[in-house]
Amino acid sequence: MSDQVALATPGTEEAELLERMDRARLPRHVAVIMDGNGRWARQRRLPRVAGHRAGIESVREIVEISARLGLEVLTLYAFSVENWKRPKSEVRTLMRLLKEYIRIELNRLAGGNIRFTAIGRIDELAPSVRRELQHAMEMTERNSGMKLNVALNYSGRAELVDAFRRIQSMSEKRPVTVSEDLISDCLYTAGVPDPDLLIRTSGEMRLSNFLLWQVAYAEIHVTPTYWPDFRRKHLFEAILDYQKRERRYGGIRNGART
Ligand code: IPE
Ligand code: IPE
Ligand code: MG
Repeated sequence: MSDQVALATPGTEEAELLERMDRARLPRHVAVIMDGNGRWARQRRLPRVAGHRAGIESVREIVEISARLGLEVLTLYAFSVENWKRPKSEVRTLMRLLKEYIRIELNRLAGGNIRFTAIGRIDELAPSVRRELQHAMEMTERNSGMKLNVALNYSGRAELVDAFRRIQSMSEKRPVTVSEDLISDCLYTAGVPDPDLLIRTSGEMRLSNFLLWQVAYAEIHVTPTYWPDFRRKHLFEAILDYQKRERRYGGIRNGART
């Protein structure tokens, strides 16, 4: 009960949603395409970067609540390989906000037993960003609680290319048998269960090159809410939606007869 109080203020809509949630059937891994920062800003006649700044507050809340709820893995899509196409000033602000987020939140992540990992082509990021990421990964590597993956300079296709290249170089040393397990083990997410629930904010119905291999059987929840407005209430709604789904994995309904 004290935990319920900590996760939601009694009498609020989120407390009611939390009550309806089956805490024994949480998704193990939730992945989020954090979208709509630009539209959130435009709605307020603000520059796009104001939307990115506001989005940090959502990251803070969702990371904290996910860990306290007991999710094993949370993966956030923060910057795609394709996002380099944006104006230089916007990219610069996004990188600056990322560094700021880590600097401000690192103690909280470490104290919350959260393990931080950056996934993507990290070696192509600026040295100052890499240093910050490296520091955060080292500071939290022994944490045993929720794993927080932040996808940066990430592309699902690039991840598969990187995995196949690894397999190719392995095969130059010894014979290898290509299997689903081997491919999974060569992805950035090696050792992490596939996402059970994929959330996309701002209403877009597409994957935008995110975790293409891993979402094979993820349940998808799209909310019209823009990322800067996304709070625990929306996460609870997404989890409740997930809990209503029947996951069949190509089989037939549990207990159904032919
Ligand atoms: C998501 O918001 C943040 C990133 C992709 C970095 P957008 O910046 O894509 O916002 P919209 O889609 O233009 O509203
Ligand atoms: C996906 O959002 C990438 C991230 C959330 C980091 P985009 O806004 O870049 O995707 P598209 O362009 O709408 O497909
Ligand atoms: Mg977008």
